[in-house]
Amino acid sequence: MTTHNWEIRPARERDLAEVILMERNAPTAPHWSAADYAAVLQTGGSVRRCLFVAVQGVGLDGFSVGSITGSGPDAEAELESVVVLDGLRRQGLGSALCRAVMEWAHGEGAAAISLEVRAASPWALRLYGGLGFVATGRRPRYYQDPTDDAIVMRCSLGGACGVGGGISHFSQRAP
Ligand SMILES: CC(C)(COP(=O)(O)OP(=O)(O)OC[C@H]1O[C@@H](n2cnc3c(N)ncnc32)[C@H](O)[C@@H]1OP(=O)(O)O)[C@@H](O)C(=O)NCCC(=O)NCCS
Repeated sequence: MTTHNWEIRPARERDLAEVILMERNAPTAPHWSAADYAAVLQTGGSVRRCLFVAVQGVGLDGFSVGSITGSGPDAEAELESVVVLDGLRRQGLGSALCRAVMEWAHGEGAAAISLEVRAASPWALRLYGGLGFVATGRRPRYYQDPTDDAIVMRCSLGGACGVGGGISHFSQRAP
């Protein structure tokens, strides 16, 4: 059981250096350029993105990134990345950061959210499965270094998925 009480909030520009450092220290996370992260905070364009950070005291403890392409019934939401600091894992924070993206996508009108995960990451498959994602496809040799298939997972943002459940000890505050 966790005794932590993380605040999960949208990232600000001054958080980006720390986000990038966390990402660089997480070899299994997707790796983006500093410009990619800066672009997440820009509004406008055909892709809407969110970047949430987890804070407890000084410094950031994790982050998650999501996106939505299109609008209305055609909107496609994606959970793009989630990272928690090494020493703080297995306390529910990764799940809470995923839920923040799922709630954001739901609020933006997306009916479902998808993601890709390395086939050789059974623990990540368990994490996403616990949030209500189910495997819907496989992309052979999608990842390099090391080469691996991607499992495509999808979660309806309607009723039974992870949105709204189990996040009570985390607060989500506006910037
Ligand atoms: C993936 C990651 C964000 C999970 O963060 P976390 O805070 O540990 O996640 P949670 O505590 O919410 O874990 C939820 C469940 O996922 C599963 N899980 C997560 N990490 C696991 C691990 N290392 N081994 C086995 N199961 C694991 C468990 O079922 C866990 O529930 P439990 O602790 O009650 O057994 C974190 O391990 C991380 O930052 N990894 C490096 C970056 C990365 O690979 N991101 C994902 C790219 S696909």
